[in-house]
Amino acid sequence: MSKFKLGELFAGIGGIGLGFEQAGFNVIWANEIDQKACHTYSKNSKAKLFCQDMKTVDPKNLPPIDILTGGFPCQAFSIAGYRKGFSDERGNLFFDILRYIDALQPRVVFLENVKNLAGHDKGKTFSIIKDALKQAGYHVKYKVMKTSEFSEVPQNRERIYIVCFKNKADYEKFEFPKPVKKHKKTTDFLEETADKCFYYTGSNLYPRLVNDITDKDIIYQWRRKYVRGNRSGLCPTLTANMGMGGHNVPIIRDSVDIRKLTPRECARFQGYPDSFILPDDLPASALYKQIGNSVSVPVIKAIAKNIMKAISDEGE
Ligand SMILES: C[S@@+](CC[C@H](N)C(=O)[O-])C[C@H]1O[C@@H](n2cnc3c(N)ncnc32)[C@H](O)[C@@H]1O
Repeated sequence: MSKFKLGELFAGIGGIGLGFEQAGFNVIWANEIDQKACHTYSKNSKAKLFCQDMKTVDPKNLPPIDILTGGFPCQAFSIAGYRKGFSDERGNLFFDILRYIDALQPRVVFLENVKNLAGHDKGKTFSIIKDALKQAGYHVKYKVMKTSEFSEVPQNRERIYIVCFKNKADYEKFEFPKPVKKHKKTTDFLEETADKCFYYTGSNLYPRLVNDITDKDIIYQWRRKYVRGNRSGLCPTLTANMGMGGHNVPIIRDSVDIRKLTPRECARFQGYPDSFILPDDLPASALYKQIGNSVSVPVIKAIAKNIMKAISDEGE
């Protein structure tokens, strides 16, 4: 077992912890407020899970860790949101992360958020974040990475990854991973069969889909009034609003007919192994939301491996 212990904030279903575990870290505790996400988390991880508002936890009572991670809620910063930034309650959760950093003094802090965090409010929001991390005594590196460029998973997801080191030497040794040469085909991620409930056959929307959704190699989206196909061979960015009903789940044509991606297929497009349990006592809407809220696990793993290299003392 790794000597590096990790605590995971805003854990969701544990995608960040999973990527770090795959790189050799040891997740010892996690915090998440949403009961259904906690349910999925605890089916897949042995870490001690605090299923409660992170504002109500006193971090001084938590076991010591080397790495603190947090894919903090992104709604406040995303282009799709209302551009409220720190004036939105969810944006303010960033300052609560600082409370944990102060109490736990981890060697590394890893944060993940939507790409737009860097440009939000003409860059002011991100400057505040970087300055606060520096004030807390950390050296900060960050990079926007697209899942299809940094893993074999063909998803169009672009996210900002922020890696902070307490020691300058670790910071200087760390570099972000290089792009991979090639991603897989989207068809490699599909299940052989899907339940009837995922098909549009006979639905009101079907007549508006049937003439445009023709190619089995393309993943499509319904954009309120029209169909858009991703011609670059990628799955569109999976988002939490997939769980809100409507037609937010990407759509494909398979050998039977036109259907939504299943939750398992969405999990695959986030790089989750099939051994990851999607609890069958949760509705598909909850699973879609959880997966859309999560991360591309192989991208996390690639970054985590480089963090491991930077902090492992050779020759020890
Ligand atoms: C962007 S998601 C992170 C998902 C995670 N990285 C994963 O792989 O599943 C943000 C998570 O923060 C949780 N959250 C929001 N406010 C919270 C709070 N006050 N305390 C604890 N968790 C909170 C949400 O329920 C959501 O699961």
